[in-house]
Amino acid sequence: MLNFEYYNPTRIVFGEDTVKRLDELVPQDARILILYGGNSAIKHGTLDEVMNALGQRVTVAYGGVQANPEYEHLLGALEKIKEHEINFILAVGGGSVIDGAKFLAAAAKFADEDKWKILEGSQITAALPFATVLTLPATGSEMNSGSVISYRSRGLKRSFSSPLVFPKFSILDPSKAVTLPERQTVNGIVDAFVHIVEQYATKQTGAAVTDEFAESLLRIIIRVAPTLIAEPENVQARGDFMWAATNALNGLLRLGEVGDWSVHGIGHQLTALYQIDHARTLAVVLPGVWQYKLEAKQAKLAQMARNVYGLQGDDERELALAAINKTEEFFQQLGVGTRLADYDLGKDDVKALVQNLEKIGATSLGEDKDIDLNASREILLSRL
Ligand code: NZQ
Ligand code: ZN
Repeated sequence: MLNFEYYNPTRIVFGEDTVKRLDELVPQDARILILYGGNSAIKHGTLDEVMNALGQRVTVAYGGVQANPEYEHLLGALEKIKEHEINFILAVGGGSVIDGAKFLAAAAKFADEDKWKILEGSQITAALPFATVLTLPATGSEMNSGSVISYRSRGLKRSFSSPLVFPKFSILDPSKAVTLPERQTVNGIVDAFVHIVEQYATKQTGAAVTDEFAESLLRIIIRVAPTLIAEPENVQARGDFMWAATNALNGLLRLGEVGDWSVHGIGHQLTALYQIDHARTLAVVLPGVWQYKLEAKQAKLAQMARNVYGLQGDDERELALAAINKTEEFFQQLGVGTRLADYDLGKDDVKALVQNLEKIGATSLGEDKDIDLNASREILLSRL
């Protein structure tokens, strides 16, 4: 097991009917920017519930955060923060709204006028406090310190992370997820699954606690997925999945392991250029990365075949290949396309995607840093 350090200061309040806890969790004198997405938080009553819980506190609402939160739209919220002397941000939504809140928390304290520099690697030294009410289990953003922001007019999608942007607390009420359209439920399943394997399906480091936690989360996600689709109002299943998705990316699964993250690195370009849902980009890229790195990942993929899919056998390569096939089948059974052609993309698009990777300097991806532009091209071409 590799050496590690673990820090996660986010308080989790899990359970039905917990939005009212905002009253004790948010400081009485807070001046709050409430950030939300399109219409779902209004339509399903969550925003009203939040407002009621916050009582007499000063609140300014800023909605319209799109899926894959957009830099230029978020700059509008930054104006509100200045104008109303906001000192606390509350995100009500899924990963996009939460990531938007993280960016705003950092941008509000970032001296340079060009806030995009935060996404280009400039270190932040301060951030506003913020918290979340999660309505879509998927990204784990509610309990981690990462954020992904898009800049559509420049065809960019980039991430930043800092210990300063852990949420102060996150409210995880699984009953909030029952209104999710199937497309978003499925996206959440695929995203959480891939978060686990980006950290697990790399090298054998002997991190038994982390490995077996990852395997159990994968088994739970596979088991609960059909229920989430067949019984969208099953709060027990929503809760199991919500907590699994949070654990998939709250840092626990990287302990003692080597991360891959090339699937996300390449996948983000598919969203940046073609607005494909984040999870669906991962379903396309993952089998390609695993095939490309079959030799290096063989031991871990064979372990996955045994411990997650319950397969048996002595041939490690066969088992590893079976894990790849089973995983692709799982995505397909959820109705998620795993080929570029499923999204009407072809060879010319691969060229554009590789150019985008070059533009942001993503030239050495993966646990061995050996996925250069040629490798990314090969991986994408294998997914036509
Ligand atoms: O905009 P509204 O009307 O609110 O609708 C949203 C949105 O259209 C809807 N929705 C959310 N909660 C709902 C609901 N609809 C009905 N009932 C509810 N309870 O769902 C749609 C998608 O929401 P979004 O927040 O975009 O989805 P998700 O949580 O999948 O977030 C995706 C974003 O997170 C980033 C992705 O790249 C993408 O930009 N990620 C963030 C990560 C992180 N910070 O750690 C890691 C991930 O790998 C990922 O990259
Ligand atoms: Zn993801």
